[in-house]
Amino acid sequence: MAGVQTVLVLGGTAEARALAAELTERGVHVVSSLAGRVANPRLPVGEVRIGGFGGADGLARYVTENDVVAVVDATHPFAQRIGNSAVKGTSQAKIPLLRLERKGWEAGPGDDWHWVGSLDDAATKITELGERIFLTSGRQGLAAFAGCPQWFLARCVDPPEPPLPPNIEILLDRGPYDLVRERALQDEYRIDVLVTKDSGGTMTVAKLVAARERGIPVVIVRRPARPVTETVGDVSAATDWVSEMLRK
Ligand SMILES: NC(=O)c1ccc[n+]([C@@H]2O[C@H](COP(=O)([O-])OP(=O)(O)OC[C@H]3O[C@@H](n4cnc5c(N)ncnc54)[C@H](OP(=O)(O)O)[C@@H]3O)[C@@H](O)[C@H]2O)c1
Repeated sequence: MAGVQTVLVLGGTAEARALAAELTERGVHVVSSLAGRVANPRLPVGEVRIGGFGGADGLARYVTENDVVAVVDATHPFAQRIGNSAVKGTSQAKIPLLRLERKGWEAGPGDDWHWVGSLDDAATKITELGERIFLTSGRQGLAAFAGCPQWFLARCVDPPEPPLPPNIEILLDRGPYDLVRERALQDEYRIDVLVTKDSGGTMTVAKLVAARERGIPVVIVRRPARPVTETVGDVSAATDWVSEMLRK
């Protein structure tokens, strides 16, 4: 909508959808941006654009050409490239940027967590922990386990492409996942190691609870570093920030 003050929400997360809904409800013109990785994505309310911008320069061009007055990067904690582009692109275009990022998970009593820096490190770590691995790290990360002889149950939204581990069963599913099902899954498949990224949030946390109850070790991948930028942890704080930016 030419000439209308627009807020760009970089999305692909539940928080981004909630923010788009909240801002739309308040009469703010929001465009949500999705990468286009998932075949049938959950769409936020309001206007949506799909596909990469072409790096930081492309993002800077997009915000300038589309009357964007503020950007909220609500992408997934592991979406590092778009995070970098958001910081560089908004700085080039001189548009304010907020990072909306949910808190990471923390181990509690009874958890047996093994933190690693990457999926490659996770593939090494599992060799000392077990033989029947529940992989919940997403379709794009499966190649890291391609050389592993263990048996894998891999849960992903869309079918993965090779290379894959030789002994693997794919479970196509999409969160949120409840505890009853997570318990049943870990029991039915006799899982003895869980591999996850530190995505945080409540939608996929039940697998960690089920693993704790069963004494199953968890290999958990640390979040990649992102450039330092103003950050909030919840949708309501992000809504306040946008309101403040629109008042200016
Ligand atoms: N990584 C995960 O574990 C994960 C989990 C759940 C959801 N997601 C969501 O899935 C999307 C892709 O994740 P990823 O890890 O592949 O990201 P990534 O590695 O940071 O991004 C790769 C490229 O995809 C494009 N892109 C990513 N997010 C975009 C967005 N919201 N709007 C427009 N373009 C976007 C950008 O292309 P250009 O350089 O051409 O601009 C970016 O350079 C993200 O939106 C993220 O929120 C990711």
